[in-house]
Amino acid sequence: MRIMKRITDMNDSEIVESIQSRRLTICVIGIGRIGLPTALSFANSGLSTVGIDINEKLVNSINSGNFPLKDEPGYDVIFDKVINEKKFRATSNFSEGVNSSDVIVLSLPTPMNEKNIPDYSALLSVAQKLHDEMFDGKLIIIESTVEPNFVEKNFLEILEGNDKKLKLGNHFGLGVCPETANPGQILNDFEILPRLVGAMDNHTQNLITKIYKHVFTVDLIPMPNCKTANAVKLTTNVFRDLNIAFINELALIFEKSGIDIMTVLEAAKTKYNFQVHYPSVGVGGPCLPVNSYQMINFAKNFTSKTFGLVENGRKINEKMPFHTVNLLEDALNEINLSLSGSTILVLGVSYKPDVKDIQLSPVEKVIEILKSNGVNVLIYDPYFKNSEIFGIKSLEDFVSHLKNCDGLIIATAHKDFHNLESKFLKSKMKNPVVIDSKNIIDQHLAKNAGLIYRGIGRGKL
Ligand SMILES: NC(=O)c1ccc[n+]([C@@H]2O[C@H](COP(=O)([O-])OP(=O)(O)OC[C@H]3O[C@@H](n4cnc5c(N)ncnc54)[C@H](O)[C@@H]3O)[C@@H](O)[C@H]2O)c1
Repeated sequence: MRIMKRITDMNDSEIVESIQSRRLTICVIGIGRIGLPTALSFANSGLSTVGIDINEKLVNSINSGNFPLKDEPGYDVIFDKVINEKKFRATSNFSEGVNSSDVIVLSLPTPMNEKNIPDYSALLSVAQKLHDEMFDGKLIIIESTVEPNFVEKNFLEILEGNDKKLKLGNHFGLGVCPETANPGQILNDFEILPRLVGAMDNHTQNLITKIYKHVFTVDLIPMPNCKTANAVKLTTNVFRDLNIAFINELALIFEKSGIDIMTVLEAAKTKYNFQVHYPSVGVGGPCLPVNSYQMINFAKNFTSKTFGLVENGRKINEKMPFHTVNLLEDALNEINLSLSGSTILVLGVSYKPDVKDIQLSPVEKVIEILKSNGVNVLIYDPYFKNSEIFGIKSLEDFVSHLKNCDGLIIATAHKDFHNLESKFLKSKMKNPVVIDSKNIIDQHLAKNAGLIYRGIGRGKL
């Protein structure tokens, strides 16, 4: 039986003592891309940590010693260490995991539905379970990305419940620490990116700050409340989504006007206050597209108008897969081929380079458009070999298939594709059409080698 004081009742010296004596226990609910590295960092700091997940296959695999995130450098070593030291375990037993812990960190998915409305059902169902099954005295920290006011209204309402079995302040503390790490470099980001700490009261904010300071060496920025912390997280990602949309739209214009967007961007970035973004096949992943729709959804509460700027940005970014296929069609036409009946190789399915992640990848849309136009689609991605992706079995190796290809689309800028040489492609492909949605091939070398090349925002040479 644990005899430690309830964490919510601890004063400064008691919380510090519970951390230093390693008696403080942590539970992370949702041990996916962000939650697992988070849980491993807590465990690596010496605090006993349990990860709860509804995915039993994942739980069993982790408990058998298999680290699932092979594309997260550094965490494989930490995983082996904390499993050996018995500082970390996974479970699908919600009640046991929660009630054996003092601190409950939520890293649950916050996607959107097919109508682009944010879907907070995972967080809300966990709020209900916490209401039903959690003992009192716990500190709850939401790391998931949510729109402002979600925590203090929707989440809290369910957590407390109509019966007021649990009352904020009396029975639990609640705060947020929105996660901002980038997949593929989470350990690096956890070591350099400041974290925002917002809470429902000062005492809770102080507790969270003390605990996170022990685990993470970065600056912890106090926020006046939860909604401001969540607003910061959305603002940074919507800023990025919108800037990419601006560059994508410029790319569409420049392409027709004989101006090369890459030349423009290289020169523009020499100006100290220009932050460079690049055009491409679109914007994917669980963050940027979703966060823009979360911001749009949030804004609806305060204005009768729509958040037009963000909505238009989304429309442009969502148009880019169609534009990519238009470029392909144009290039095929140049050699009297059409989309229908052609064989096209798509290189890369991940939404970003060098990660194994296809969440909301714009490449899915490209493949859908190609298929609906009667294209025979082949796909290759070094992170997804021989697997069923977007309804197609991916190739083990693509080089031997080039002889059957009328064209290829570079859809993800994985490191492996940066070495592609124009001469090599020309010598191997049945027809030398190359659509470079990441602008990683030298346009002049492509032309000299005889490729029928199109980059996004580059026009014809
Ligand atoms: N992936 C990113 O790039 C990134 C970066 C920063 C912030 N975020 C945010 O972090 C949060 C988590 O994202 P992620 O990418 O780690 O998601 P993920 O899908 O990789 O992981 C979520 C995990 O939660 C589990 N889960 C779902 N419902 C559950 C439930 N009811 N009970 C227990 N477990 C449940 C899933 O099985 C999964 O393992 C999201 O809000 C996301 O927006 C993600």
